[in-house]
Amino acid sequence: MERVNYISLLVLALWLVGCDNKEDTRVSRPTSSTIEVSDAQIQAGKAIHDKNCISCHDSSVYTRLERRINNYSELLAQVRRCDANLSARLFDEEIQQVTLYLNQTYYQFDLP
Ligand code: HEC
Repeated sequence: MERVNYISLLVLALWLVGCDNKEDTRVSRPTSSTIEVSDAQIQAGKAIHDKNCISCHDSSVYTRLERRINNYSELLAQVRRCDANLSARLFDEEIQQVTLYLNQTYYQFDLP
């Protein structure tokens, strides 16, 4: 009797562990992002950045210790704030490209 209970407990435990594992692989798999990243976009982002974004600060602000940006959306928001200071505002697509470039080169956040 006891032996049977022990075995069924073991089976139950293995079953639960099995479920957990499945759950884990699903969660730890990189989340598929809706944002498409290509080398062409990164290059475009760099070109736009180097042309428009280094009049007030150089790239050292992206690596400063006291930076307040914690994820990709905050980075995008900051790029929009900075863009608002440009005399010739960027198109939304260009803002996305600059953000991808900065993220790939400096911040390395997961894409939303
Ligand atoms: C008119 C001046 C000005 C221009 C032009 C400008 N920025 Fe900024 N940027 C700032 C200032 C000032 C800060 C610092 C804000 C702070 O202290 O939080 C900043 C901070 C940032 C940060 C945050 C750095 C960090 O991690 O703390 C990013 C990212 C950034 N700028 C991107 C850009 C991009 C991209 C462009 C071009 C589209 C751009 N900036 C153009 C003034 C400017």
